[in-house]
Amino acid sequence: MSDYLEIDPATAERRQIYRMLVGSVVPRPIGWASTVSKAGVANLAPFSFFTVVCVVPPMISLTIARNPDGSEKHTLKNIRDTGEFCFNVVTQPVWKEMVDSANGFADGDSEFAKTGLTPIPCVKIEAPRVKEVPIHFECKLERVLELGPNRHPLVIGEVIYMHVDQACMTGKYIDMRKLNPIGRLNGFFYSTLGEIFERAFDDGQPR
Ligand SMILES: Cc1cc2nc3c(=O)[nH]c(=O)nc-3n(C[C@H](O)[C@H](O)[C@H](O)COP(=O)(O)O)c2cc1C
Repeated sequence: MSDYLEIDPATAERRQIYRMLVGSVVPRPIGWASTVSKAGVANLAPFSFFTVVCVVPPMISLTIARNPDGSEKHTLKNIRDTGEFCFNVVTQPVWKEMVDSANGFADGDSEFAKTGLTPIPCVKIEAPRVKEVPIHFECKLERVLELGPNRHPLVIGEVIYMHVDQACMTGKYIDMRKLNPIGRLNGFFYSTLGEIFERAFDDGQPR
């Protein structure tokens, strides 16, 4: 006998829908976005509604909800104002700083200073990147899609420059054991990779 909780999003409460979504789409990679404001303040915030969306040209997406008062988060404001952002991979040694960077800070405060992380320059964009992690993708804004009646912003960025520390590579590949990335689960929970499996396709070719 099945004992499913049956949910119709048309009538369910927002919090319940959120709990089902973030408990089911797991683990989620985290797009740690660094940006700079028009006033020159460096900003850093994590987004787990994040994925890769295109290879040629390379594109990634972030979904940036509005603040409870309806205003836009600093990251989205900065991306709209400057047309750029940098994606930093979150790795295990800095997972706590990543969480702390999501605390609400005042307009003039930088999460870099608040968390002790080091901003270093990008090559093609003005936004800084996080020195303490091994992979940074410099992105220019492709477009912001506003989804549904609440015009929920989905930011798509084109990756115009990649920095990959070879210390996290083996041959031509990024080596997951060396990278040691972090994923978001639900609630206040996060995870490392755990066990890794390998199973090739019949012809041995990648898909
Ligand atoms: C691991 C993690 C993932 C998050 N994912 C998202 C997300 O996908 N979308 C979102 O709007 N906020 C997300 N948040 C919350 C933002 O990081 C938070 O609102 C942050 O303060 C926004 O900063 P900003 O105003 O400087 O842009 C996440 C927080 C954490 C810790």
